[in-house]
Amino acid sequence: MAPSRRNSFVHLSRSNSLEFISTAAPKLETAVDRSVPDHEPAEIDEETKYFHNNPAPSYLPEVKKKVSDFIQSHAGKRPIALVTSGGTTVPLENNTVRFIDNFSAGTRGATSTEYFIANGYAVIFLHRQFSLLPYSRHYSHTTNCFLDYLDEAPDGTVQISRQYQDQIQPVLRDYKRAVDQNLMLFVPFTTVNQYLFTLHLISLELKPVAHSSLFYLAAAVSDFFLPTSRVSEHKIQSKGGSGQLTVDLDPVPKFLKRLVEQWAPGAMIVSFKLETDESILLFKARQALTRYGHQLVIGNLLQTRKFEVIFVTNDAVTPYRISKEDEENGKEIEALIVPNVVELHKKWIASHE
Ligand code: PMT
Repeated sequence: MAPSRRNSFVHLSRSNSLEFISTAAPKLETAVDRSVPDHEPAEIDEETKYFHNNPAPSYLPEVKKKVSDFIQSHAGKRPIALVTSGGTTVPLENNTVRFIDNFSAGTRGATSTEYFIANGYAVIFLHRQFSLLPYSRHYSHTTNCFLDYLDEAPDGTVQISRQYQDQIQPVLRDYKRAVDQNLMLFVPFTTVNQYLFTLHLISLELKPVAHSSLFYLAAAVSDFFLPTSRVSEHKIQSKGGSGQLTVDLDPVPKFLKRLVEQWAPGAMIVSFKLETDESILLFKARQALTRYGHQLVIGNLLQTRKFEVIFVTNDAVTPYRISKEDEENGKEIEALIVPNVVELHKKWIASHE
């Protein structure tokens, strides 16, 4: 019999993880609830409307407790980064068979988390459940199956193959240190609704640590969603209708401005801007900076995001690149991104002292 998620949580409980929460499962208790109201009249602001009309995830109190304990144990000792990672889903059915998703594998967020920890941070890792995780990402990719690293000894015990010992040892050491020193908290999401409620909650919890908190928003958040009041109760049937499926999505409110001004007013905020057309990337990154009034936009192109990014601040535009050769030798662009973000964060903290 396959082990339950709860058992795997008990087993992994040393690595401060809320992974036992099943964010991917449909919420059966509300699957037939048609009483959720539709959007309120336009005079109520977008934030109030969104959080009023869409249900909070039932597990949020558990997240709040863990996040609050984590922040308390690091406040005043080290900076805390909130790293968001991976793509959000938009369920089309309440008993979810179909959903809209995006490409993000969580590489940027998982990789950056390791570099933040190496640079003295504690990290709340708000990630798409089952996307890449810090440290284990080195072995969880399908082209890098962890079983290939194992051998069976003549006495039947399982061990790391001799040829991989040198490669695994430093990752294992870093991982154990992060776990032993309680430097990461894993908080999962699957849907865009779960993401927004959890981001809001964590932002408010981080308010007391103000300037020494850093928001590093690498998640690829859906721009459109289906309000709860319009989500189909059961699997949409392929036969019986017109034969075509028309989905009418609403725009996800742009919460970044609310985050900068109200949810996390003292924090340094880094957002990402992803484009596929190079000619508009800088313009869009600058536009985001002006529109939301935060400190840094990191622009990247889908095609080259693993080799180059641009930092856009009010004062400068700075490109960072690694060469193909660097990449083949195992260098990661996050080894340039994160220390430079950390430098800006140090200045941010100093300017508020
Ligand atoms: O995971 P990988 O495969 O490594 O890919 C990494 C990445 C390309 C997804 C990442 O580097 C990246 O660019 N993420 C942001 C994608 C994007 O363009 O997001 P956006 O324009 O929808 O949003 C702008 C910023 O606001 C983002 O930082 C986003 O995380 C944040 N946001 C957006 C909407 C929302 N409702 N909440 C948010 O926090």
